[in-house]
Amino acid sequence: MLLTREEMSLDFGGHRLDPAADREILAWIMNQFLYGEVTGIQIGQWLYDAPDLSAARFLAKQAIEELQHVGNMVSIMGMLELTPQPAHPVVRMLATGMMGGSWAEHVATEMALGEGFVLMAFYAVIDTLDHPESVAILERAVRQEESHVDFGECQTMALIAGDEALRKRLLGLSLVWMWGVRRLAGFMQSRLPDHPVLERLPDFLALCLQCAETRLLRMGVLEQPLSELSSASRAALVASAYAHKGGESTLRLLTSPARLLPFVGKRRRLTDTYLNDPVVREPG
Ligand SMILES: [Fe+2]
Ligand SMILES: [Fe+2]
Repeated sequence: MLLTREEMSLDFGGHRLDPAADREILAWIMNQFLYGEVTGIQIGQWLYDAPDLSAARFLAKQAIEELQHVGNMVSIMGMLELTPQPAHPVVRMLATGMMGGSWAEHVATEMALGEGFVLMAFYAVIDTLDHPESVAILERAVRQEESHVDFGECQTMALIAGDEALRKRLLGLSLVWMWGVRRLAGFMQSRLPDHPVLERLPDFLALCLQCAETRLLRMGVLEQPLSELSSASRAALVASAYAHKGGESTLRLLTSPARLLPFVGKRRRLTDTYLNDPVVREPG
């Protein structure tokens, strides 16, 4: 990976999440993770679009790993006595609504940035959760997630080498992705209960955005710090990225994340039905 675990970890000052006292917080966190892992089924589409056999083999292995992670989350929720519930709409938008429209979008926004963000959340839970059995499961999962991020970074770098138009398009989509993370930050800061770990959330989300920027710089998608890009340049990048995506009004997308959901399509998939699936409802 282009960033180290140390760079992607926040110091929570020794504060911990207690399985009993902090059940409400843990239920919220684990339900977002559970949904994220179910979105692993989207790999099916990308296997069909893989550019070569080694990429296809990586995706086939990743699909198995993500489905194992669904089982991991169900096990952790069982141990912590948490009930599976729907994920937050902004998480659904980030994980499913912004599903890439091309292989390049998939590896850059979903694998490098998206799974990079999930990895940071896993590191944070590992560092704070006072439940060794769950932490051991998450430690095994993060090694696999690190390989997914690494694959996304390598593929992105290879694709943008010599393709300036693609670099700019991926940058525009990355800016929308970062806006989505800020929306999630706004929700988390306004609705979650008082807790010393949660008090660090603004710093954690700021670190996530900083790491996303660093990753974009190290991949070469971003050529200068974001602070040096004017608002007009950012708007133009986002507009041209979405114009390429099929003419969807950028303003519409930016004003209502729920409107991104139609990108998902009308068919009911596991990301819609997993809460009623026997594997989640009656784990044995
Ligand atoms: Fe996963
Ligand atoms: Fe993953």
